[in-house]
Amino acid sequence: MSRLGVWVVSLLNRLVPTQAMHRELAESKLSVEAYQAWEYREIRQIYPEFGSAWDLCGKRLLDVGCGLGGKSVFYAESGCRSVTAIDLRFKSVQATRDLARDRCLTTLEAFLCDAAHLALPDNYFDVIISVNVLEHVDDLLGTLRECKRVLRPGGLMLLHFPPFYSPWGAHLDGWVNFPWPHVFFSDATLIEVARQVEAQLRRNQSYIPSAQVDWERAIQLPELNRATVKQVLDLISELELEVLRADMLPPGRFYLARRGPLAHSLLGLLRRLAAWPPLREYLTTKMVFVLRKGQAK
Ligand SMILES: C[S@@+](CC[C@H](N)C(=O)[O-])C[C@H]1O[C@@H](n2cnc3c(N)ncnc32)[C@H](O)[C@@H]1O
Repeated sequence: MSRLGVWVVSLLNRLVPTQAMHRELAESKLSVEAYQAWEYREIRQIYPEFGSAWDLCGKRLLDVGCGLGGKSVFYAESGCRSVTAIDLRFKSVQATRDLARDRCLTTLEAFLCDAAHLALPDNYFDVIISVNVLEHVDDLLGTLRECKRVLRPGGLMLLHFPPFYSPWGAHLDGWVNFPWPHVFFSDATLIEVARQVEAQLRRNQSYIPSAQVDWERAIQLPELNRATVKQVLDLISELELEVLRADMLPPGRFYLARRGPLAHSLLGLLRRLAAWPPLREYLTTKMVFVLRKGQAK
């Protein structure tokens, strides 16, 4: 850890205001219900980014890494024949079950399961969806292999997640306010800043319990597999899935879209730059894939 680095990050932290989207996310972590509502709002906003694959009516769907279940509810409400939600954390599975029960959604079931070892039958699901998860799984290739195994021939895999070098790919929102900190500073430096910010928050009694990370014991940015755009594209081609959509979404896509013609032109430029391999790793905030499993020969 460099002391100068810690000082620079802390200074930038004070100069750059917290992003509205991160404030909203932090506030939503104050209760399970608020976080579920945030999950639901987010999927309503981003689901159209999968394009024409939106019709879930009558489908058997698997939600990989369901979190607290807000998104699983959206899929169930979209008319799925069944929604199977899985997560590695019991707390998430329980929250999803409770939500399904409270909403009387009998088509939604949740199970404790590792995405890389799915206790589910081959060739079963019509659609597999995973949002904000694949950057966290320990075994990305194993997870994609398992998803392919349980998907029926002709079925679709919808994936939406950030690559590691994206502006907020360090997942330090709440601790570090500016984008790409992990491109410029070491893990040790960022962890030290996060420790200090958290100590400060505790003193101010504005600590958010559900966003707890044990920074005292962390030796690298936690729960991230550091998958890059290139690595993900290579894995997908190794798995021989048909690529119907592979979008590299640029930063500010919602904010700029709401502004005037100049902002629209800037967004168009960012889109083109995010698709350009030399800048793709850094200018992609989210990767969006629609993949199809080939018919059995
Ligand atoms: C950021 S949350 C996303 C939750 C939800 N999909 C959403 O977008 O609102 C990531 C979730 O993935 C789960 N997860 C991480 N690794 C997993 C694995 N190997 N198998 C299943 N779930 C996993 C975590 O427990 C966590 O609930």
